Amino acid sequence: MTATDVESAEAATPSTPGVVGDRWLDITDPDVYRAGVPHATFQRYRDEEPVAWIDEPDGTGFWSITRYADVLACNRDFKSFTTRQGIRLEDMDEEELEARKTMMEMDPPEHTRLRRLVQGGFTRRTVASYEDAIRILARAVIDEAWPKGRFDLVTDVARQLPMRMLGRLLGAPEADYEWLVDRGDAMIGNTDPEFTEHVVDTTDTSEYRLMPFRSPAGMELFEYAQQLADDRRANPQDDVVTKLLAPTMDGEPLSDLEFKNFFALLVAAGNDTTRYTMAGGLLALLDHPEQLAMLQQREDLLDSAVEEMLRWTSVTMHFRRTATRDVELHGRTIREGDKVLLWWISGDFDERQFPDPFRFDITREPNEHLAFGRGGPHRCLGEWLARQELKVTLQELLPDLSDLRVAGPIDRLRSNFISGIKHLPVEVAPG
Ligand code: HEM
Repeated sequence: MTATDVESAEAATPSTPGVVGDRWLDITDPDVYRAGVPHATFQRYRDEEPVAWIDEPDGTGFWSITRYADVLACNRDFKSFTTRQGIRLEDMDEEELEARKTMMEMDPPEHTRLRRLVQGGFTRRTVASYEDAIRILARAVIDEAWPKGRFDLVTDVARQLPMRMLGRLLGAPEADYEWLVDRGDAMIGNTDPEFTEHVVDTTDTSEYRLMPFRSPAGMELFEYAQQLADDRRANPQDDVVTKLLAPTMDGEPLSDLEFKNFFALLVAAGNDTTRYTMAGGLLALLDHPEQLAMLQQREDLLDSAVEEMLRWTSVTMHFRRTATRDVELHGRTIREGDKVLLWWISGDFDERQFPDPFRFDITREPNEHLAFGRGGPHRCLGEWLARQELKVTLQELLPDLSDLRVAGPIDRLRSNFISGIKHLPVEVAPG
């Protein structure tokens, strides 16, 4: 596909997370993403420089991996590409790494121990048992939003469900859910002034360097998690928190610091990712009325529609790895200690893997997207929960979705890490 094709794809598919025509954008600049994902630039990298060295303003730099097959291969090879030095562009010293370490920043076998402790609550089977609870929550959220006639599809609908579900799962009191969502946004939206006063790339955040996302919200979530842990130790309940803190047959429970970091990881990973997938996916359906009509007639396409929504939005745009040895790839030498970015979002629009990738196609098959990672030890823990939430909400919205019209400008997150629509004004216009 050429740049002109990308531009024509833009005209045909306005909901593509910003198929912008400029092939030379700075993919590290959070401001670039306010206009949308710089797809034409990623396409140039895929075609011309699939392993590209990119300088950073502080004199460092990183390798950018943009083709599907390469992203997958590097992600599988966790021995050559470790997560121990962090998973985002930000560099951390040893003290910061130790204080903020979650299972994402561990390699097997250390990672395996933690993953085993927590994975029971997130298996496909366990999550299937949450279906009724998710449906009740989804219905309540929709019934609150619709009568308003005009509302924000993100804040009034997509933002509500994931955190309420996570809050229930963790056993947090319902009265705290809104606060948790708010603090989660401030933490993960740490480059967006709508969500935090402490924008990491423009203000001094050194005071919070030992907190998740270098954010004061991370500190508040740590304190909250500590209180929750103290409470569950004194009053065990039938919830995930109690299970994580109780001594188990097959290993030590989580330490306080491990628990606090895991809690912050869940609030970060399980909250806005599902929200932004829902927002971007619903917008794609509104922009493609023929796909929406097909889905309304054929509920058997719900699962594949959800997969296409995941590919189309690919909300977590990259994760970082660090090379543990010299690796040759496409004629370039990645040196031991070099920072490497795996761009899931680029892989998900790689024409070598997905025929006609800029076509939103709810029947796409196969659709082995990278939205949850793939092939490596860190594959998303919450993938089945996210799928279930997306599917049930979509199912509940489906009969009335064609009555919705986009009624205002779309506002996107300022971030080179998470691709998200923060605000999507809509109005109900039956007929
Ligand atoms: C559509 C929504 C979601 C997307 C797009 C997403 C994406 C991802 C990605 C790309 C990874 C890293 C994969 C890798 O490095 O190989 C990941 C890991 C993770 N995700 Fe998700 N995620 C979503 C929802 C959730 C939910 C709902 C939860 C929990 C409630 C969750 C919890 C986690 C955790 C704990 C990890 C780290 C796993 C590990 O290190 O073993 N995610 N997610």
